[in-house]
Amino acid sequence: MTRDDVLGILGSNDDYVSGQMISEQLGLSRAAVNLAVRSLRDEGYEIESKTRLGYRLLSSPDALSYGELAQYIDRDRLKTVTVLDHVDSTNNKLKTMEHEGAPSGSIVIADYQESGKGRRGRSFVSPKGSGIYLSYLLRPECTADEISQLTAFTAVAVSRSLEKACGIEPQIKWVNDILVNGRKLVGILTELSVESESGSITGCVIGIGINVNLDLEDFPQDLRSKATSLSLVKNGPVKRAPVIKELISELDKLEDNFPAAKEEYLDYYRMHCPIPGKKINVYKIIGKDPVTAEALEITDDFSLKVSYENGTVEDLRSGEVTIRGTEGYI
Ligand code: BTN
Repeated sequence: MTRDDVLGILGSNDDYVSGQMISEQLGLSRAAVNLAVRSLRDEGYEIESKTRLGYRLLSSPDALSYGELAQYIDRDRLKTVTVLDHVDSTNNKLKTMEHEGAPSGSIVIADYQESGKGRRGRSFVSPKGSGIYLSYLLRPECTADEISQLTAFTAVAVSRSLEKACGIEPQIKWVNDILVNGRKLVGILTELSVESESGSITGCVIGIGINVNLDLEDFPQDLRSKATSLSLVKNGPVKRAPVIKELISELDKLEDNFPAAKEEYLDYYRMHCPIPGKKINVYKIIGKDPVTAEALEITDDFSLKVSYENGTVEDLRSGEVTIRGTEGYI
């Protein structure tokens, strides 16, 4: 789209860009460039124009569009990024694309999800314009045993991206919730496709939901004591595009790093997971009462080693835990 292309050029230049240069670069008439600039201004982009110098982008609204992302992310990388205004679930959309043969690294991002999915059949609150709802397709070469570790690798990737983009220090609640100050900031839902004949994994859709500019009232009543958002943590609005840039850059590293760079991811995970050493509730089966246990350690395959009150020790590969006697989400 012309407007997105013009925005991409203005956003990736700190200095003035002449109308002539934009029209040559995009193969557009000067009139088309002027029209695109006018329509961007109407949408809230502050664009200065100076005779003989050209245009300069001064500020952008927190919109989610291809043009907005092109200010931060390489255009080649954006070729396999689908940006949608709304969708039922970015995971559903990407799963369809996966079955149609989309390459590893394909991404779907939406400004709003009508029925965002959480783990264990829950829904994920996805209001318009205030979150990052992103799904990433990975087609890893790994064994069925290793694939269960992908969700922990992803938690590390997301946590690192938030450190870089926002200067915060997240914690990882086993298995893959990202918390700040004991409240949930990010949810991750990984869905696998398996070829039934061979049992081999054909693709993994990693869905990431980040609460960016949500106020506590935007969450349902029962989540208000457990959830948080980047704007609440940072005490002010946070732009989504720069966060998406860091997120994509960390997720892209998984192509090479998963599962080969396990030691590095394991070190980070262990340093950021507050569960070991705590008395916990273990929710193994949906709808069943929890079992009490002590969390011992994160094992070499990212399982949580727990010791039950009857003395049995078990390595949990999946499930959900909470620390006993604490408030918030932890
Ligand atoms: C959870 O915390 O239970 C997991 C939440 C995962 C939410 C993300 S938002 C993007 C992607 N699309 C979905 O429908 N769900 C995931």
